[in-house]
Amino acid sequence: MNKFAKLVAALLVLGIVVLALIIFVPASRTAPVSSLPANFKAAEGHGEYVMRLADCKACHTAEGGKPFAGGRAIESPFGTIWSTNITPDPKNGIGGYSLDDFRAALYDGIEPDGTHLYPAMPYENYRNLKEEDVRALYDYFMNEVAPVSEAAPETDLAFPFNQRWGIRLWNWLALGDAGHPDLYDDAVLNRGAYLIDGVGHCAACHSPRNTIFAQAGETAEDSDYLAGGVIGNWPAPSLYGKGSAPEKWSANDLAAYLSTGRNSHSAVAGEMTQVVGESLQYASDEDMHAMVTYLRHINGKTTGGPDQMTNLATDAGNDADNSIAAASSKRADLSGETVQLLASADPAMPLGARLYLDNCNACHFVNGKGAHGVFPALDGNALVVSDTAGGLIDVILHGARMPSTDKRPERLAMPGFGDRLSDEELAELATFVRQGWSNDASAVTADDVAELRAAGFAH
Ligand code: HEC
Ligand code: HEC
Ligand code: HEC
Repeated sequence: MNKFAKLVAALLVLGIVVLALIIFVPASRTAPVSSLPANFKAAEGHGEYVMRLADCKACHTAEGGKPFAGGRAIESPFGTIWSTNITPDPKNGIGGYSLDDFRAALYDGIEPDGTHLYPAMPYENYRNLKEEDVRALYDYFMNEVAPVSEAAPETDLAFPFNQRWGIRLWNWLALGDAGHPDLYDDAVLNRGAYLIDGVGHCAACHSPRNTIFAQAGETAEDSDYLAGGVIGNWPAPSLYGKGSAPEKWSANDLAAYLSTGRNSHSAVAGEMTQVVGESLQYASDEDMHAMVTYLRHINGKTTGGPDQMTNLATDAGNDADNSIAAASSKRADLSGETVQLLASADPAMPLGARLYLDNCNACHFVNGKGAHGVFPALDGNALVVSDTAGGLIDVILHGARMPSTDKRPERLAMPGFGDRLSDEELAELATFVRQGWSNDASAVTADDVAELRAAGFAH
């Protein structure tokens, strides 16, 4: 054998050995980030509270299914991944998990037998959790959740994605240190950053993905941190930088959006509806204040104390009446090209504008500003002007419904127009909305609409 052939053979053997190690030697588990006494007990209710903010229930409960029994389908670019049963049932759930097993699922994405979980389980983010919160969660799942002895459907992706050992390589590349460092001299900012990055896992949707499909950007030092992501056909708008909601909205508006799903600009639709309805509405005033303060801080804005943020509960009752009055006075403002075009009622007006007058104007108005807390503004709306038009098309096709929250229980809804508008008409209308008022986004084609119509209701 010549030298070259020897080298190739040696590399081949080495490769096989490494592969065998990856496949057969179990992945190591990350140790706790701090040590707590064995008899540590979280405050009453804290485990359930962390579960809410971490939104475990939304993903681990099927539509109409028993809480935490799994079976919710999560669509990934590689196929459908089913969430698992995480009730304390010993056979079908996690009843046999030790605390270390539980932490390994949250930090390392591994099951007790070493099987790797797909990162559809957001362990990239839960890896930031503090040991106090891991312990509180563990106690909650073991003692307060009712066991359900039903097996969740098995995830069965096509080759090569069914080779879960490959995830180990991905983990090496994608995961940083466990725990969440305090980067600020300010306890409120540190708490806010921890909730956003760790428990609330906002980056799972709101950060772009890098070349290996990991969440890009770790801290506000990185320009792609929370810079906007795409889930399925929906945009999750940027939370960082010029023009992002935390940069342009007041602290009150941001808090109202996150805790009630509506504010004077916008309303939640798509996956964010569930995030507010199942998770963020349960945040304490202090924690909501910390998240808002942090999101504003990284965008160069300051926020007053929690007492300076409007009391959302008392504000809620008056909003609907006030806002209709405010909206009709706003309607009198007839400056601007789009407003004049719509107000002219010119029979020769382009199809998109005419369809807007016929179908949308009654609620979103000629100025595209909607009504505070009732009808979202379409002018300057991140969902409307996103490069990914799928969210806008989906809302027009199927409508949307706000979540019910303690502070704002009304589930105000927008009807779907899929039955009434053809693909061509819907494309003209969506293009009009994307380019009307101050909006300046690309046109939508009938093919874009046809594709989403065929995909059906996405959430
Ligand atoms: C965005 C959706 C999502 C959220 C939120 C989520 N999970 Fe998961 N989780 C999954 C999916 C999907 C799987 C299964 C992944 C797989 O099969 O590889 C999973 C798997 C697990 C497992 C392994 C279970 C088993 O049966 O082997 C545990 C434990 C777990 N999750 C606990 C939690 C806890 C606790 C929370 C909240 C702190 C949580 N999950 C939040 C999607 C989610
Ligand atoms: C499961 C995916 C998902 C998660 C997790 C998520 N979001 Fe969202 N978020 C979305 C989507 C989709 C939208 C767009 C909704 C719309 O426009 O109606 C959105 C919209 C928003 C908006 C409005 C942006 C704008 O410009 O209109 C804010 C603010 C926001 N999210 C904050 C958060 C925060 C803070 C967290 C974490 C605590 C979070 N989101 C977690 C999917 C998600
Ligand atoms: C009957 C009143 C009504 C009509 C008519 C109506 N909408 Fe809406 N629209 C709403 C309400 C209420 C919401 C908030 C629902 C939600 O976000 O869950 C909404 C939400 C939206 C959103 C999502 C905004 C966001 O930030 O998530 C878009 C886009 C939208 N409407 C566009 C349109 C278009 C285009 C038309 C005409 C085809 C239209 N609407 C007709 C009431 C209406």
